[in-house]
Amino acid sequence: MIYTQEVAAEVLQIIDETLLSEKEALKKRLSEMKLDYKVRASIHAYVFETEKRKNVIDFIISKCLKGKKIEELDPLFRNLLRVGVYEMHFKGVHPALATDSIVRIVKRRFGGKLASLANAVLRRAEFVNLEREIRKLKDEIRQLALQYYHPEWFVKYAIELLGKDEAVKLMMANNEKQIVYIRVNELKASVESVRRYLEQNKVEVEETPLPEVFKVLSYERAPASLDWHSEGKFVIQDLASAFVAHVLDPQPDEVILDLASAPGLKASHIAMLMENGGKIIAVDNSEDRLRRMRAKMKELGVRNIEYKLADGTKFYVGDVDRVLVDPPCSSTGSFRNYPCVKWRFDERKYRETIRVQRNMIKNAFRNLKEGGTLVYSTCSITFDENEENVLFASQFFKVEEVEPVIGVRGIRIFRNREFPFWDKVVRTFPHLHDCVGFFISKLKKV
Ligand SMILES: C[S@@+](CC[C@H](N)C(=O)[O-])C[C@H]1O[C@@H](n2cnc3c(N)ncnc32)[C@H](O)[C@@H]1O
Repeated sequence: MIYTQEVAAEVLQIIDETLLSEKEALKKRLSEMKLDYKVRASIHAYVFETEKRKNVIDFIISKCLKGKKIEELDPLFRNLLRVGVYEMHFKGVHPALATDSIVRIVKRRFGGKLASLANAVLRRAEFVNLEREIRKLKDEIRQLALQYYHPEWFVKYAIELLGKDEAVKLMMANNEKQIVYIRVNELKASVESVRRYLEQNKVEVEETPLPEVFKVLSYERAPASLDWHSEGKFVIQDLASAFVAHVLDPQPDEVILDLASAPGLKASHIAMLMENGGKIIAVDNSEDRLRRMRAKMKELGVRNIEYKLADGTKFYVGDVDRVLVDPPCSSTGSFRNYPCVKWRFDERKYRETIRVQRNMIKNAFRNLKEGGTLVYSTCSITFDENEENVLFASQFFKVEEVEPVIGVRGIRIFRNREFPFWDKVVRTFPHLHDCVGFFISKLKKV
């Protein structure tokens, strides 16, 4: 007998204790289990929906712990409580039922003492009036953070960047169910054949501004679990992410350098646009990610990639036609797809990431031939990682215009810093474009 709540809590514990995302942690925990796809989908939903609301769920639990601190609890026990609170406050499960199932699991896993504690905490949690408790708080940022399930630093940042109304809309969109986009892999199947296949498999899709990308509206079975996905005829790739390869505009006889390449979604798209011609040099400094990328590229029928395990800030080959820098970033545009990222912010790491981004831009310049093109993109919404980095790059590159096939223009002024090229770059936002928050810019070495 599988208890969805129990497995979900175990996955949440993995997310807490590792740097794995929800999807990776689910894969790790569920890979050995033979589960019906409906049970699998239910565990997925529990994990995502609980992780998404972690701050407010912990706020409720903390009110009910009477002296104990949530961080002091056993990690699995803590996550079982989180699942219980999620069920009764957000999923509409009757509180007595939610409490009963968690208490039973706790009793079996930990014994009677912790089961009594779980019972006491969850019974108190039932009577927490969340709206009233949030209203009682003095600090508006803290209120908004709990109301819209985002960390306080992000609420502050988003309000400064976009204004309060827009920031709230962004946070609300981040809390919506993930939008799935399907990018046809034309190295293996035509757009039309994939459209028909999806229809036959009861996946309802609509067109997007990119002809090979479909937006999924509804499905019976998750598209990623269908045969054509494992056969590499289509990939799950966000619309904004798929726009990047088009901006790069690779030609079949060119040499393309991708300085942060794994897991290779954009590289495989570039290969497709090059019809497997020319050469892509795919650099990444993670052996594991590069290994998985190789396997995926094989599945997708990509044959024009040369893999390099190296530091993208230093790797040198020289004389390349185009470079893609899609570096590690804060992933602040991806909260909808990866809620765990919201709770992992680290100021020191953030500054270090910006340093890596700038060094990759400098290294792109070194590697490009005269007249060559750099596309710099991130799935971050911050000014520092985007406009500010392009401003830095404009000291030695010419900023070219990206046509906003999707998206809007960049940010002009932030914290008294002005970005003169705001009308040449493109941003996408979850609340405006129903996709990941992306930043895309194009620069020329002149
Ligand atoms: C945002 S992901 C790239 C996504 C990829 N372009 C795609 O479309 O699938 C960033 C990648 O940069 C890699 N990375 C981080 N620091 C690096 C460095 N100094 N040199 C090369 N790769 C690095 C990470 O391992 C990660 O795979």
